[in-house]
Amino acid sequence: MRQCIGVMVIILVFAFARDARAIQPGKTVTWNTGMGKVTFDGKNHADAGMKCLDCHSKIFKMKKGSTSMSMSDITAGRFCGKCHNGAKAFSAKDKANCGECHKK
Ligand code: HEC
Ligand code: HEC
Ligand code: HEC
Repeated sequence: MRQCIGVMVIILVFAFARDARAIQPGKTVTWNTGMGKVTFDGKNHADAGMKCLDCHSKIFKMKKGSTSMSMSDITAGRFCGKCHNGAKAFSAKDKANCGECHKK
């Protein structure tokens, strides 16, 4: 078991090293919604102190388009809502904040 975890850590380290410029700081992921476009900016999240492991892979897979989430998942505290709950980051439930993510 311990050996197994060791191997996984090595694989992860290589994966991060290879992808270090592939996404997050400097890259964005966008979703088109009925309320306008939502853009996730890797650089802004890195600047806010978020590390790869804060999101990968317990919240998001490292593959664009692999997440199937709805706004009700987010307000229930899943996916983006794991942090955007008013504690770690601005709340996705607060009507004053919709426009922080949804841009017409
Ligand atoms: C705050 C959360 C968050 C952090 C921190 C984060 N990512 Fe991501 N990452 C995402 C999301 C969201 C996606 C898109 C997932 C989807 O579309 O289902 C993604 C996608 C990716 C992808 C796939 C890109 C593609 O084009 O398919 C890679 C590679 C990736 N991230 C690497 C990293 C690395 C390396 C770091 C650290 C430098 C990092 N991420 C930090 C949220 C994050
Ligand atoms: C691991 C925690 C975490 C997750 C997951 C996360 N965020 Fe954030 N996000 C933050 C923090 C921290 C900030 C900066 C503090 C603040 O603005 O409240 C931030 C800021 C932002 C901002 C404002 C800065 C900018 O980029 O314009 C947007 C928009 C945003 N996040 C969208 C998203 C979306 C969309 C998702 C899901 C795809 C997501 N976030 C997932 C932690 C997270
Ligand atoms: C932290 C970022 C964030 C905030 C804040 C946010 N949303 Fe969203 N919202 C998203 C993302 C990401 C999606 C796209 C999900 C997908 O298509 O996979 C989405 C999708 C939606 C959709 C499309 C249909 C659905 O239910 O999935 C609606 C409507 C919506 N949001 C309404 C709102 C309203 C109203 C608010 C403010 C009360 C809000 N959102 C705040 C990130 C956010």
